[in-house]
Amino acid sequence: MTIDGFLLKNFTDCCEGELSAVLSWRNAPEVRRNSFSCGEIDRESHFSYVKSLVQRKDRAYFLVSGPDGRPVGVISFTGIDGVSADVGYYKAGNRKNEKGVGALLLKLAEKAAYAVGGGKWKLLRTEVFSFNVPSVRSIERAGYKENAEKRRFFTRDGETVTVLCWELPLNAAG
Ligand SMILES: CC(C)(COP(=O)(O)OP(=O)(O)OC[C@H]1O[C@@H](n2cnc3c(N)ncnc32)[C@H](O)[C@@H]1OP(=O)(O)O)[C@@H](O)C(=O)NCCC(=O)NCCS
Repeated sequence: MTIDGFLLKNFTDCCEGELSAVLSWRNAPEVRRNSFSCGEIDRESHFSYVKSLVQRKDRAYFLVSGPDGRPVGVISFTGIDGVSADVGYYKAGNRKNEKGVGALLLKLAEKAAYAVGGGKWKLLRTEVFSFNVPSVRSIERAGYKENAEKRRFFTRDGETVTVLCWELPLNAAG
């Protein structure tokens, strides 16, 4: 699918080279530090996970590339229940020093949500650790509002962190 000149390629359609690149970005310390599962993902688990996605209706992952063909990052929809989904995102390794990539990925995810959800999704959610300032800023910039009632704690490797929950209503008509 192409949105505003950006190519969003479903992981299930990606070649081995593309999926290897995705794995290296996902395993970058910055991405792991900001993820619920922060362990390093091995090649075998990654490829078998992507294979399993063919059967799954509740999640979809996309490799995003720019109009110049350079990779931008990954966006994901998980917890798809027919009316809403959780958005995840991270930058491609070669974009490390670029600014504004988070808000761009979130804007593309919002537009993609209409296509992926068949125009039926009413809400997007995204969760972020409170210490992840660049992501919180990106989420705010993309127009999400925090649902403070859903603020919660999460314990990872013996450390308890605060999780902020953000929401973006979708226009039913797209
Ligand atoms: C989240 C992520 C995509 C953001 O990338 P980015 O948008 O290119 O990052 P930027 O450097 O432009 O920072 C985004 C915003 O945070 C601000 N920011 C960054 N670091 C900051 C800091 N330490 N203190 C205050 N503000 C900060 C930037 O100024 C920018 O604000 P602006 O939009 O008002 O200009 C990227 O950091 C990433 O991939 N992180 C790892 C994965 C991740 O955290 N995913 C989200 C999980 S919820």
